[in-house]
Amino acid sequence: MTDTRDRIAQALEARFGTQLPLPADTTGLDSLARMLEHRSHRRYAARPVEDALLNLLFACAMSAPSKSDLQQADIVHVRDPALRAELAALVPDNPWVATAPVFLLFCGNNRRTRQVAQWREKTFANDHLDAFMNAAVDAGIVLMNFIAAAEAAGLGCCPISTVRNHAQTVSDLTGLPDWVFPLAGLCVGYPENNGVITPRLPLDVTIHRDRFNETVVATKIDGYDQRRAARQPYAKQRDIKRFGEAPFYGWSEDKARQYAKPQRADFGAYIRRRQFKLD
Ligand SMILES: Cc1cc2nc3c(=O)[nH]c(=O)nc-3n(C[C@H](O)[C@H](O)[C@H](O)COP(=O)(O)O)c2cc1C
Repeated sequence: MTDTRDRIAQALEARFGTQLPLPADTTGLDSLARMLEHRSHRRYAARPVEDALLNLLFACAMSAPSKSDLQQADIVHVRDPALRAELAALVPDNPWVATAPVFLLFCGNNRRTRQVAQWREKTFANDHLDAFMNAAVDAGIVLMNFIAAAEAAGLGCCPISTVRNHAQTVSDLTGLPDWVFPLAGLCVGYPENNGVITPRLPLDVTIHRDRFNETVVATKIDGYDQRRAARQPYAKQRDIKRFGEAPFYGWSEDKARQYAKPQRADFGAYIRRRQFKLD
């Protein structure tokens, strides 16, 4: 069996192309290895996920920290096959939404906070951008806690932000009321294969000491593009019609092309329709 320290070394190499010293007295190595080995899974075995396990994972997810203990994240477990089919039809580019054994919708919920204010006869004096931000962050943390718990239990997941391309329809289909909004879907199941570790930006690009530092960031991203392309080249280039075929196609070219096209430009309007004030 591969030693946990070897797993960590291999994952660091795959993720960052580097090694990091591991202090001898570090505990929780298995959890650390699992986090380093994270990968999204989009293909699933036929094996169903038991409700009892799912309920345990919900409890793990909801054990996440929560801004001011406000508990502003909810999960909709989509069980009705007809409803799942309707949701999947909205995102045909993500066929795993139809095929995953389990599909969940993670939502920010600022509604309860407002209801509590009303029930306890207090003014809700925080009708501004922070109310939306806090609920979105809580939902994101709960999403990640669910993924971490699911991966510990041998499951694989894939978050689905494309549900927000159809935020209003998704809200209508799942009956989300005002002040509740979809953050992301999540496909869950036993993985069909091992999947792959996706390389991340080097830590000296994303971790700052005392002050934000962009020194030679462009050069470091060039290096990351090369390392990533050597390990995991893109299967196809995005939008060749518009941008042509690049002789070298790296992560930065892909992301620049991706964001050259408007995405969810109507999301602010949707959130305002949910009654949030974003000032
Ligand atoms: C909030 C969020 C939304 C995402 N939305 C999608 C999505 O709509 N479709 C998809 O296939 N993957 C989606 N992903 C998965 C990312 O593509 C994936 O995390 C990224 O490519 C890095 O790969 P890894 O998770 O295997 O390390 C999403 C991930 C996050 C965190």
